[in-house]
Amino acid sequence: MSSRTDGYGLDGRVCVVTGGGSGIGQGIAVALAAEGARVAVLDRNEAGANETLAMLDGGSGIALACDVTDRSSIEAAANAITARLGEVDVLVNNAGVIRAGALADLPIEDWNLVIAVNLTACLVCSQVFGAPMRERGEGALVHISSISADYVTPFTGAYDVSKAGVSMLSRQLAVEWGPKGVRSNAVLPGLIYTPMVKAMYDTPGVSERRAAAVPLRRVGQPADVAEAVLFLASPRSSYVNGAEILVDGGFTNNVMSLIPRPAPSGPR
Ligand SMILES: NC(=O)c1ccc[n+]([C@@H]2O[C@H](COP(=O)([O-])OP(=O)(O)OC[C@H]3O[C@@H](n4cnc5c(N)ncnc54)[C@H](O)[C@@H]3O)[C@@H](O)[C@H]2O)c1
Repeated sequence: MSSRTDGYGLDGRVCVVTGGGSGIGQGIAVALAAEGARVAVLDRNEAGANETLAMLDGGSGIALACDVTDRSSIEAAANAITARLGEVDVLVNNAGVIRAGALADLPIEDWNLVIAVNLTACLVCSQVFGAPMRERGEGALVHISSISADYVTPFTGAYDVSKAGVSMLSRQLAVEWGPKGVRSNAVLPGLIYTPMVKAMYDTPGVSERRAAAVPLRRVGQPADVAEAVLFLASPRSSYVNGAEILVDGGFTNNVMSLIPRPAPSGPR
């Protein structure tokens, strides 16, 4: 019988969070640091990365300006992290953008940007941070996909396509790198209140109507997503590879309750 330990076994582990200067990435960085991890907060927005760094327990993290669409910027960040914190154990691919628009006349620049940040950067960051993991025979990749990977939201440009790609990329990495000891898993958040979508939620009535559509009757917070990331980043999930964890309060399983029916007669 193995003896259980408290915590996630992340104490002292070096974890990289892309897009860690805001929203879900910030919540993930804070949660990892609270478990004793040494966190590298990467963001194109350096002020945001520094804001997150100031929120971390323990003070052993670093904040770095990094554009995940630029391979040389990622490589520079990787060198700085290895020099200052040590070998990277965990990569969280979280940076993301959305450019709304109808596919009929979507500017190709918007398509390319969303694919570059949300999808291609996940591959390039995995290549850069994953190479030493494969050499050591140990590492964890956690990709922040979305319920949008499986469900269409019309007029959101390339966003859903990019997230469908992230989910498949995660599974392909799991198969290709599993034999090298590197696990790859994805988290699929649902409706989460962050700066990316703040304007929408702050429109009167929207938050309440969205909460009503979720079986748990609330919109999610970055900390809700972070809990799933902690598990997938930690040795506690050492036999979990190529998996997806939905963090949506049950939202995507609620479709059948939208079917119009006669007034309910049984217990509710
Ligand atoms: N908010 C939601 O409801 C929701 C739902 C499902 C999935 N997600 C995903 O969660 C992730 C985080 O989203 P969020 O809601 O916290 O958004 P956010 O806008 O609050 O944070 C995204 C961060 O990514 C950074 N970023 C953008 N482009 C970058 C680049 N080229 N290089 C480096 N950093 C860059 C931004 O500066 C920002 O700090 C995204 O991948 C998003 O698609 C969000």
